[in-house]
Amino acid sequence: MRRDHPSAGPTWSLAARLTACYAATSFLLVLLSSGFLYRVLVNNLDREDDEFLADKVRILQALLWEKPDDAQALRQEVEWERRASLPERYKLRVLDDGGTTILESPGMSDLLGPNLFPEPPAFGHALGPGVDVRAPGGRSFRVLTARAAVGPPPAVARVLHVALDRTAEEELLTRYRARLWIVLTLAIALCAAAGHQIARRGLRPVAAMSETASRIRSTSLRERFELPGLPAELFLLAGAFNEMLDRLETSFQRLTQFSADIAHELRTPVNNLRGEAEVALDKTRTPDEYRDVLGSCLEECERLARLIDSLLFLARAEDPQTQIERRPLDVTRELETVRAMYEATAVEAGVQWTVVADCAAHAELDRALFHRAVGNLVANALAHTGPGGSIRLAASFDGAALRVEVSDTGSGVPPEHLRKVWDRFYRADAARSGESGRTGLGLAIVKSIVTLHGGSVEMTSEVGRGTSVSLRFPLSRAPDD
Ligand SMILES: Nc1ncnc2c1ncn2[C@@H]1O[C@H](COP(=O)(O)OP(=O)(O)OP(=O)(O)O)[C@@H](O)[C@H]1O
Ligand SMILES: [Mg+2]
Repeated sequence: MRRDHPSAGPTWSLAARLTACYAATSFLLVLLSSGFLYRVLVNNLDREDDEFLADKVRILQALLWEKPDDAQALRQEVEWERRASLPERYKLRVLDDGGTTILESPGMSDLLGPNLFPEPPAFGHALGPGVDVRAPGGRSFRVLTARAAVGPPPAVARVLHVALDRTAEEELLTRYRARLWIVLTLAIALCAAAGHQIARRGLRPVAAMSETASRIRSTSLRERFELPGLPAELFLLAGAFNEMLDRLETSFQRLTQFSADIAHELRTPVNNLRGEAEVALDKTRTPDEYRDVLGSCLEECERLARLIDSLLFLARAEDPQTQIERRPLDVTRELETVRAMYEATAVEAGVQWTVVADCAAHAELDRALFHRAVGNLVANALAHTGPGGSIRLAASFDGAALRVEVSDTGSGVPPEHLRKVWDRFYRADAARSGESGRTGLGLAIVKSIVTLHGGSVEMTSEVGRGTSVSLRFPLSRAPDD
């Protein structure tokens, strides 16, 4: 579909849609109100003409009733417009019961033959509304037919045909309609122009926002949308965008810092490798000397490999697609396994061990990752605890979570470093740890493993007394009691 195609441009602009809707709505309103007014005008004219014709009929009916023999009065009524020198608009015909014309306005039969008139209503029935007819010459008439009684009973019946020339009215309406169309055409143009202006004014903040957005690059992530003066809807949108930019800026800064740290960390082993090789090639050496150089090169390579492995692990852990393989673990047993892995080092360092675990400590965890996290903590504890010190591994349930704690009686971490030790490449004792081959990624890896399990980490420490790191793993299912 067109909309799904990545190269498809926007369809109708918002301004065009608003303009079209506004213009269509206003034009419809103008059209409806003009149509209504026109209809009212036509109805009024019809009613006035009908009243005029009905008046005439009533006058004639009265005349025929009261003065049945006064032909002169009847003739005067028929010819009153001509006598008053008025334009002759009104026509009248009197017919007998059999349909023979007794009297009519001059020239009426040429214009309006009796067949153009409808049947008259029976005596006692109300007069109907007039009927519009068109005379052979093109002139338009409103006609009415009625019955009249000549004198008191036994009366003779007459039929009255009255007609009113409406040609002038019709021309007036034709002119009115023509002007109405002109007004409507102007109205649609004006509505479209006004709608366009309104839409443009309303969307000006959107244009300003898109201009700001188009300026933002990875190098100018500090830029933000101006919030004051924005309409309420856009205020929320721009606020959300600004928050998104805050997050992006922080992530970018972290990435930049991370890249710089990686370069820095890689530089030392690579420089060492190059230095060793240069010294070895400086002059001819004995086989033992070559062996030494190769040995230290191998050490540097191992250090590099460890660093790259840690970086890869962190990169994978950050991928939202990364899945962990949870399976039920007997946490006590797993802690004993980790202890066994580091037993030799502990003995060498003269450090005591204790593993204190709730015997029902079962949880669904990724075994390899759990080992790696606890192993890193144990390695840290061993590295910072001198001979005679002790390390304690503990596991317990805390509500709906498993809490694993690694505590030592070592050197401790100064309070100013406590929050930062979880950052990548951060080493509280950077000067000493450089040469020991530690990279400062151990706790970052621990944190990402716990995060992959949906948990949290915490470190408490006192300089000279020891450190305690606690990992909290929420349980996906309740432990068996
Ligand atoms: N148990 C501890 N006692 C005292 N300081 C600690 C302890 N654990 C961590 N730290 C401090 O926190 C810093 C960060 O630890 P982290 O494990 O991330 O890096 P590292 O041990 O220096 O290097 P890596 O683990 O990558 O070999 C350490 O350099 C150390 O200064
Ligand atoms: Mg470490």
